[in-house]
Amino acid sequence: MKTKITEMLNIEHPIIQGGMHYVGFAELAAAVSNAGGLGTITGLTQKTPKDLATEISKCNDMTEKPFAVNLTFLPTVTSPDYPAYVKAIIEGGVKVVETAGRNPAQVLPYLKDAGIKVIHKCTSVRHALKAQDIGCDAVSVDGFECGGHPGEDDIPNMILLPRAADELEIPFVSSGGQADARSLVASIAMGADGMNMGTRFMCTTEAPIHQRVKDAIVAASELDTRLIMRPLRNTERVLNNKAVERVLAVEKEKGSEIQFEDILEDVAGVYPKVMIDGDMDIGAWSCGMVAGLVHDIPTCKELIDRIMAEAEQIIESRLKYMLEATA
Ligand SMILES: Cc1cc2nc3c(=O)[nH]c(=O)nc-3n(C[C@H](O)[C@H](O)[C@H](O)COP(=O)(O)O)c2cc1C
Repeated sequence: MKTKITEMLNIEHPIIQGGMHYVGFAELAAAVSNAGGLGTITGLTQKTPKDLATEISKCNDMTEKPFAVNLTFLPTVTSPDYPAYVKAIIEGGVKVVETAGRNPAQVLPYLKDAGIKVIHKCTSVRHALKAQDIGCDAVSVDGFECGGHPGEDDIPNMILLPRAADELEIPFVSSGGQADARSLVASIAMGADGMNMGTRFMCTTEAPIHQRVKDAIVAASELDTRLIMRPLRNTERVLNNKAVERVLAVEKEKGSEIQFEDILEDVAGVYPKVMIDGDMDIGAWSCGMVAGLVHDIPTCKELIDRIMAEAEQIIESRLKYMLEATA
């Protein structure tokens, strides 16, 4: 399938793996890219720019295909050295950067000068337009369903994607709630040129996370995510667990008086303990509603091949048949 995104990024299939904290290591990024999609290393999971340089070099050894690095500008407890991370990305020969959180104006000139394609992930049409205005090459439109930070507008992709299509001139991919061939064909029907998946890629054999995390997603339904940190205007969609219940209880008790410190223990620094140690109730971790559509743990190649084969079937049989049936 050729789209503006496959052409722009020089990839075979219009499928991107979004940056994921303590999930997006070289093993996953390379597996997705080797399967013809675009894999992504999560920049800030690497504790220092030097560590990121090492991870990029490892990924370069594992694939000859293009892969991306995610740079997230979200409120963090201590601010990272972004210029040094950007330097590691440029010197590592990375071809694509996924930015998220605040708009990437501060780093964009350096990335563009190095010939890097920048995809900004955002949760509203106004932020997508801003990304277009400042010179991003594409956007990843992240609906309310998404795992991670859906923003504060709460617009699901059934509305957000056609709205983005109406307003944007640069290409965009759908993100949030995407899992299979139906997601891809629907996204394309709504004007996107591909799709970005997070939660779905956690349940692949190559995702270097604890088996218990994968099993928890497979066992979960679409009813099992919760929104936390809404009163702090830093909303995150997470899989429900004991820590999430604690956070929600504190949010209810403190109301508008809540401070980040009140929930710090359950949300800060918990990712390595969950993703690597498999300590499932130690803290809150991002997960999309799409968990309800994740029923297995294939390889990245099996997943991407299945999506592309079934997408072809939907277009060739179901959609074309409907036209022929009414002709
Ligand atoms: C465990 C997890 C960690 C994530 N970490 C990040 C991150 O560090 N930076 C970022 O931009 N997005 C992050 N995301 C969001 C994903 O890149 C992607 O936008 C999102 O998962 C799409 O929604 P889906 O899970 O429904 O596919 C994370 C998502 C998950 C599930």
